[in-house]
Amino acid sequence: MKDTYPQKDINQQTYKIQNGELSSRTEHDMLLDTRLLSLSRELLPQYGGNWNFHNMVTLKQKALSRIIYYHELYQKILDVPGVICEFGVQWGASLALLQNFRGMYEPHNVSRTIFGFDTFEGFSTVDSKDGGFAEIGDYSSLPNYEDTLDEILSIHEGLHAINHIKKFELIKGDASRTIDAWLENNPHAIVSMAIFDMDVYKPTKDVLEKIMPRLVKGSLLVFDELNCPQLPGETIAVQEVLGLNNIKLKRHPLQSYCAWGVFGE
Ligand SMILES: C[S@@+](CC[C@H](N)C(=O)[O-])C[C@H]1O[C@@H](n2cnc3c(N)ncnc32)[C@H](O)[C@@H]1O
Repeated sequence: MKDTYPQKDINQQTYKIQNGELSSRTEHDMLLDTRLLSLSRELLPQYGGNWNFHNMVTLKQKALSRIIYYHELYQKILDVPGVICEFGVQWGASLALLQNFRGMYEPHNVSRTIFGFDTFEGFSTVDSKDGGFAEIGDYSSLPNYEDTLDEILSIHEGLHAINHIKKFELIKGDASRTIDAWLENNPHAIVSMAIFDMDVYKPTKDVLEKIMPRLVKGSLLVFDELNCPQLPGETIAVQEVLGLNNIKLKRHPLQSYCAWGVFGE
């Protein structure tokens, strides 16, 4: 089982897929990364009360790009009713971003519940359509990590307005299955934004098919691994369910394999 992301040697170079981006990191990059991590560990306990702000001194371009990308996505759903569903949460970085953007841009919108679906045990299925790169268990986090993430998200929520109403939920399990109970338990739910970041074919196809009746014209569909040679399953799922000819997909200059489209356009 791989560590937290798939990695393989291609042409004697190590390529890694991290946050949907294929990157070739040199020895030099890795040395700098390791040094930044040890500086970060050294400094964190010494920042004092404003530790979270000062911690930005070690924030790298890649993480910042992700924040900007998610920020722009969030702007696109401000006038679209409905909940947000992220399929593929892992450590919860993007879920926490979404929660913070809700706190900033629509603190009084109690209807914008954010749902995060994950096995929290990595890939539970890998199909032949996934191209041979993905393996069962890839992208696992920690045992019972959903409890830690629930606490982190509760803390974020506690720092925002109307914090006595819980506006997020983590749904553990294979999303191909958990989506059925979620649809049944949430008959009111319109999906304003569905983020697909499970990387693999089967759950992406199953979930996309099943949530389709809950989309409105204007709902945002976000895909994290489109046109990705190492993980073709997500593209194949979109092709089989929506048809690549039928949705106008756009990419963002800061993200290689991410694409988004407005349903009905
Ligand atoms: C690339 S990570 C998600 C990263 C996250 N969106 C972020 O930006 O930080 C992929 C996640 O999809 C989850 N996943 C893969 N197959 C799944 C399935 N069938 N059901 C639920 N989650 C699944 C994995 O457990 C993993 O945590």
